[in-house]
Amino acid sequence: MADSSMGTESADPNREEPYLYRGRIKYSPEEDARLERQHFWKIINAFRYYRTHVEERLKRCERQFRSLPRRHQQLLSGFLDKLAEIRRCMECNHEVLQAIVQNCTHMFENMEYDEDVGESQDNMRRAGPCSTFDMDKLKSTIKQFVRDWSEAGKAERDSCYMPIIEEIQKQFPPEKCDVSEVRVLVPGAGLGRLAWEIACLGYSCQGNEWSFFMLFSSNFVLNRCEEENAMTLYPWIHQFSNNKMSGDQTRAVTFPDINPHSLPPDSDFSMTAGDFLEVYTESNTWDCVATCFFIDTAHNVLEYIETIWNILKPGGVWVNLGPLLYHFENMANELSIELSYEEMKDAIMKCGFQLEVERESVLTTYTENERSMLKYLYDCVFFVARKPAALHSNSHCKDIKTSNCKELNNSVQKTTTT
Ligand SMILES: C[S@@+](CC[C@H](N)C(=O)[O-])C[C@H]1O[C@@H](n2cnc3c(N)ncnc32)[C@H](O)[C@@H]1O
Repeated sequence: MADSSMGTESADPNREEPYLYRGRIKYSPEEDARLERQHFWKIINAFRYYRTHVEERLKRCERQFRSLPRRHQQLLSGFLDKLAEIRRCMECNHEVLQAIVQNCTHMFENMEYDEDVGESQDNMRRAGPCSTFDMDKLKSTIKQFVRDWSEAGKAERDSCYMPIIEEIQKQFPPEKCDVSEVRVLVPGAGLGRLAWEIACLGYSCQGNEWSFFMLFSSNFVLNRCEEENAMTLYPWIHQFSNNKMSGDQTRAVTFPDINPHSLPPDSDFSMTAGDFLEVYTESNTWDCVATCFFIDTAHNVLEYIETIWNILKPGGVWVNLGPLLYHFENMANELSIELSYEEMKDAIMKCGFQLEVERESVLTTYTENERSMLKYLYDCVFFVARKPAALHSNSHCKDIKTSNCKELNNSVQKTTTT
């Protein structure tokens, strides 16, 4: 595959929010590369700014506490100690975040983001204020470590990843096929645990991810964390509401619960960076596409469906689990096509897929704080859709893809767990 660009998001540099819908704005390759670099440094900046951001929050707490009447302050004798403890936890988080972004200018096989290269972006390289949007993303990334790489996340992984893994094993049983020949793609792989688990079972598995927050973090855990539970994060310190005990806010989570380097010898596991729609344009290449909490990240989910159809080999399967919490729903100037599951299913079938398994109510959580007084429960759909081995001429997707393919470029970057 070509390696001309990172292939991640294309952007209007002045926007705080993610990107305008692909295709609405076309940039030259040079401008694309410049925006790419700018975005890269913006995310690094968010990692560097974290300490200042939390410090400001703590100072506000302290100011407000001190503004209380004396008698109220006396009722809260442990309050300032609690803030001091949160500050200590924040410092630990800060250390881990700095370790994550250390050396990540070299993490991509075919793209360097060297500090000395580039235009006059020095301002970007100092930790300056960063948007609430990016800070929220960073805090979510910290919680993603719990979901994917901690003992505390096991129940959540069991509910989200196990149905997918079991289905893959059912579709491609090790006793009936050489699983190392079965190619599985996990788009929107987050911190990579699902893809890693599939590779652990001997399948050839590739995770794909678009966000630098996730890419830096997955690179860190997959390539630089070998010792089990050697790393500590405090994922819940940013949650000031809905805590039953003060200690709930400052409790530690260790990772990785398993050595990511413990894949069997000869296993085939890789991660690619870039927009799923741009990276995966080669037809008939995957035996299975496994999506978990992913399809609702689309501006237009029909594009995801078309792409999955296109890249699956005839006879291949798409295994999906997740809700339909459309990521762009409330973002100004962003295309967001919100389909009900009913509408989506109809489109999937019209594309030519055969729905083989369907469970309409799989209860799961997502980066849940199990001690919080507020919890979200996702009532997910799980389905298995097959691209038939013999294709019929009335498949809509087949026609659509033929013309789309010409426009999309093909770029892929790998970070392997070597
Ligand atoms: C809700 S998270 C789910 C992550 C993981 N699958 C899990 O279950 O924990 C969705 C992920 O998809 C990624 N993503 C969104 N749009 C993408 C795209 N166009 N190409 C690749 N990844 C994308 C996001 O960065 C995010 O990490």
